[in-house]
Amino acid sequence: MAKFDTIIRAGTIATASDIFSCDIGIRDGRIAALGHDLGTADEFIDATGRLVLPGGIDSHVHISQPSGPDVVMADDFESATRSAAFGGNTTILPFCLQEKGQSLRQALKDYHALAEGNCHIDTSFHLIISEPTEQVLGQELPGLVADGYTSFKVFMTYEGLALADREILEVMSVARETGALVMVHAENYDAIRFLTDRLELAGKTSPRYHATSRPIVVEREATHRAISLAELIGVNVMIVHVSNRESMEEIRRAQAKGLNVSGETCPQYLMLTEKDLDGLNMEGAKYVCSPPPRDEASQAACWEGIQTGVFSVFSSDHCPFRYNDSQGKLTAKGRTSFRWVPNGIPGVATRLPILFSEGVNRGRIDLNRFVALTSTNHAKTYGLYPRKGTIAVGSDADIAIWDPKKKVTLTHALLKDGSDYTPYEGLNVTGWPELTMVRGQCIVKDGELIGSKGFGQYIKRETASFIKPPVGSVRADG
Ligand code: URP
Ligand code: ZN
Ligand code: ZN
Repeated sequence: MAKFDTIIRAGTIATASDIFSCDIGIRDGRIAALGHDLGTADEFIDATGRLVLPGGIDSHVHISQPSGPDVVMADDFESATRSAAFGGNTTILPFCLQEKGQSLRQALKDYHALAEGNCHIDTSFHLIISEPTEQVLGQELPGLVADGYTSFKVFMTYEGLALADREILEVMSVARETGALVMVHAENYDAIRFLTDRLELAGKTSPRYHATSRPIVVEREATHRAISLAELIGVNVMIVHVSNRESMEEIRRAQAKGLNVSGETCPQYLMLTEKDLDGLNMEGAKYVCSPPPRDEASQAACWEGIQTGVFSVFSSDHCPFRYNDSQGKLTAKGRTSFRWVPNGIPGVATRLPILFSEGVNRGRIDLNRFVALTSTNHAKTYGLYPRKGTIAVGSDADIAIWDPKKKVTLTHALLKDGSDYTPYEGLNVTGWPELTMVRGQCIVKDGELIGSKGFGQYIKRETASFIKPPVGSVRADG
């Protein structure tokens, strides 16, 4: 019997479909055998009493993204991938933003230069299309999809990013031709600008009014419109960071009609509410993200979307800014309105423990769905499967070993990111990733970073595949 580099012994393995006990033999970064009595290895890892899961894949992460004048994101590739590894992740998919006047190729060149040699875990990039010129649509995008950039995000809101419906249709049309996936940030830009101006005129400028300026109807309308545009073109779309029932129901209805519409939700929509934006002084700025957290009924709706399969992926939307920093949440002097608070919160390390604790341990979802929502479905949706997202012979040995009973109080110091706070400070969770392994190499073990930066590789992707919602999750009556 050939020797393995590593054998993980006696753990309980869970994939998106099965739970079984056996040893895992790893050779040359890949899973080479599953079974018992696998023989010899250079290293043995004892996983008795532990869960052995596919490493987390977080398909919605922002790193070093240009965020406007005088604003700097709190994470670069080193700190974001480190934090992700502490949270049990083995691959993340950040967004490469095309700035106005920039070609996509140049944006990618710059973004790769930031990542190169700095990543602890594997990465692959989505594109953000901010200027769909003829050159972008006719030349660059088709070439880039062929080169493995098989998903792009379009924004229906944000100064400098929002695309008109016609532009979204043009991007969708290229995606349809090339087999790429369009991710949509669905909020109505004009409605938000109108409400923001009105609030400011009335002197309502504290962070809590961020939520007032982006009510559910603004998200629901844009979600409906995005789905309608996608239906017109016949393209696969992913509605990202869904926060409430009405938007979730739009997606459910589209799925019931047989449209290839996927949905994503995030921890902030399960754990936070708009009341969190109420803090003393500017404390509420810590929770400013878009769409904003809503209310308890919206949290319940997002759980329902998770349980029924309307949401196939659970991502962090990690978009970190430091709080106590004039280049972060406490924006530059004179910019006192919520309008200027950078949108986004950190969460790449807390995503998995929160869903494990609140979902699996509280009996809301089973372990297989946890794996699907946090790893396998990301790999399938974004063209990484079966290399990533499962535990199978031939797959990369991307593995997280969990102590399902470990009790941890979340605190920022545990998360090793570049920010200076976590929105989940003080939250008690049960279940914690003790070891994170990427392509057979331990990156984090028992709270220590072992791997050296630069181990993380860039992964070229295939075109995506649509995950049909489970039978029974969609009501025929819509
Ligand atoms: O507030 C958020 N979500 N910021 C990140 C950018 C985005 O829209 O995903
Ligand atoms: Zn967005
Ligand atoms: Zn985002």
